[in-house]
Amino acid sequence: MKRASMKLNVLIAISSAILVSCQSSTSVKSNDVEKRVEALLSQMTLEEKIGQMNQISPWDDPKAIAELIKKGEVGSILNVADAKTINAYQRTAVEQSRLGIPLIVGRDVIHGFKTIFPIPLGQAASFNPDLIEKGARIAAIEASSVGVRWTFAPMVDISRDPRWGRIAESLGEDTYLTSVLGAAMVKGFQGDSLNNPTSIAACPKHFVGYGAAEGGRDYNSTHIPERLLRNVYLPSFEAAAKAGAATYMTSFNDNDGIPASGNGYILKDVLRKEWGFDGFVVSDWASVGEMIAHGFCADGKEAALKAVNAGVDMEMVSYHYVNHLKELISEGKVKEETIDNAVRNILRVKFRLGLFENPYVDESKGDVLYAASHLEAAKEAAIESAVLLKNEGSVLPLGESVKTIAVIGPMADAPHDQMGTWVFDGDKNYTQTPLKALESAYGDKIKIVYAPGVSYSRDTNTGGIAAAVRAASSADVVLAFVGEESILSGEAHCLANLNLQGAQSALIEAVANTGKPLVTIVMAGRPLTIGKEAALSDALLYSFHPGTMGGPALADLLFGKSVPSGKLPVTFPKEVGQIPLYYSHNSTGRPFQGTETMLQDIPAEAGQTSLGNTSFYLDAGNDPLYPFGYGLSYSTFKYDNLKLSSEKLKEGDVLTVSFDLTNTGKYDATEVAQLYVQDRFGSVTRPVKELKRFERIALKSGESRSVSFSLPIEELAFWNIDMKKVVEAGDFNLWVGGDSRAALKGSFVVE
Ligand code: NOJ
Repeated sequence: MKRASMKLNVLIAISSAILVSCQSSTSVKSNDVEKRVEALLSQMTLEEKIGQMNQISPWDDPKAIAELIKKGEVGSILNVADAKTINAYQRTAVEQSRLGIPLIVGRDVIHGFKTIFPIPLGQAASFNPDLIEKGARIAAIEASSVGVRWTFAPMVDISRDPRWGRIAESLGEDTYLTSVLGAAMVKGFQGDSLNNPTSIAACPKHFVGYGAAEGGRDYNSTHIPERLLRNVYLPSFEAAAKAGAATYMTSFNDNDGIPASGNGYILKDVLRKEWGFDGFVVSDWASVGEMIAHGFCADGKEAALKAVNAGVDMEMVSYHYVNHLKELISEGKVKEETIDNAVRNILRVKFRLGLFENPYVDESKGDVLYAASHLEAAKEAAIESAVLLKNEGSVLPLGESVKTIAVIGPMADAPHDQMGTWVFDGDKNYTQTPLKALESAYGDKIKIVYAPGVSYSRDTNTGGIAAAVRAASSADVVLAFVGEESILSGEAHCLANLNLQGAQSALIEAVANTGKPLVTIVMAGRPLTIGKEAALSDALLYSFHPGTMGGPALADLLFGKSVPSGKLPVTFPKEVGQIPLYYSHNSTGRPFQGTETMLQDIPAEAGQTSLGNTSFYLDAGNDPLYPFGYGLSYSTFKYDNLKLSSEKLKEGDVLTVSFDLTNTGKYDATEVAQLYVQDRFGSVTRPVKELKRFERIALKSGESRSVSFSLPIEELAFWNIDMKKVVEAGDFNLWVGGDSRAALKGSFVVE
């Protein structure tokens, strides 16, 4: 058959389905999609099928790339993000390849495309799924406007080690919080229907266990036994599947000796059979080839064999599929059916995205980028992401008595760095820094003296500190913007020392010595060990990397136009040596009792058994600097009158936990109420507590409200001694409050 007529046949074969799908405004019916997939698949050569499984990152030779696309050897492109280039590649695929299959164009749209939202760890501090969904929706609208229809997000790796640079991209340490917020991101990216041209396919990553990298060193091995994997690391990925995530990405790590891109149990048994996933799986960047370095495969051919048989449908940039799959099939090592299934998965997503109907974007339509409403939403997100950790003497919010402020620190006017990690497309010229925002909002009423002290976070030059001290001395209050440059967190940017870098600590110490009220604002990609600086400061506001609109958000918070409401999505250790430190740990047989002798209190020549013999650090204790869920407000809240709908429950029941929440302070404010549960005795040991519900509740000053959480008993299930997910009968404790140390306690029994 001649090329042209073959293409025509395919078009005829799928045209009726196109007509049907065009009639539906919101979704493509799945049986229509299946028919179209089969019709197309039946026309494809083996080379074209393998081509669909190949994702490339363009290099400097667009003609060579176009040739590959024409030959049908490329299914996806990543790392192109302008409408003109994307349209050009897409035209080649649709108009010049034999079957005209459109490309799926992927991009790391992690916390915004052009309008940059706070880093995911910051967004998680909002404990606000609606806000997170909205941020992802905006990112999708902006990215899709240039033809990017697939993002490599959300990152739903449970992250309990702040040395790991990628904690910035995560939604924190908690399984439940990450599950709720990750699902919200999936919904935001994908919208009501993938078929909508403003929707982009989500890609929960990195599947799985990546956040548990040994020692917090990126790409490192993980050692997560199946029960822990299922109880802690898998649920956020399962929640993303339930939310309809179209694709998944494997991780770089090997867990228990099996690299993720070769782990058929996870990719086939868990993801597809248990969770019913029918989209496609992409490897991480070259992670198929990296199975050679892992020592899991001898060469590229074996890597392709193990990856494809494990269920990796598309290979990101390492070309072992295009180089070896054909031969592997002819040798009978890979079944053609395996290839067909992978291609089905990929085509299914392309059809669902409506790429066959709408392959191109309107190149003149740049008006959604940095739209005013997007900037406003990014500001709102930055406000809700900031966590007030200390506010001694209610130094914040700043009042009318403030006539002069000293603005110091390297992050006060750092438009690039405040955007944070994984910003490929955000333009720093759109960033509004705290210095500029303060000058524009208050410059006519207040004298603002700017003296950064050090010029960037790692700067060890102390030459500028004297000027900062002079500025501080002349001011009513000092605002010190410190933290990390964006490059210090993110992929492959791990740290063994989490103190403030460079001369920043010396700067804080020097300005604190002036005796002026000191407000320290930290912009960082991770929890830093800032105990010393916290003690020297009157107030401490942690804004993570707040994105494009961080400046106006912080200006509003500092002057009380907005009231802080963020809560920590991750435990802040006092010292690196305490890591891993997370609230939801198991008890041990000798739990720390809260009264241990510290190092300096031990008498000389003390006998070996003179101490309490509990699980405890003699030098750092076990308490974090700030616990999970913690965050202050300008107001205060009281929790009381706890009531349980029943103290005896059985499977199928729903427990209703109600309590009164009162805003006892002077400000209208929002509190994130949290419910924690402990399963006291199990067939295997259980965490001391687990977050089960949270809600943001806005209360006027003095207002009181009855709040209730409904908790189906099924949600107390865990993977037990027999590796079954069950609710075990027995005693439970629960607590409600404003952080993981919540004190208002109740108990119940499951019979
Ligand atoms: C490697 C990273 O691990 C992953 O998160 C990212 O999406 C890909 N590179 C593509 O840039």
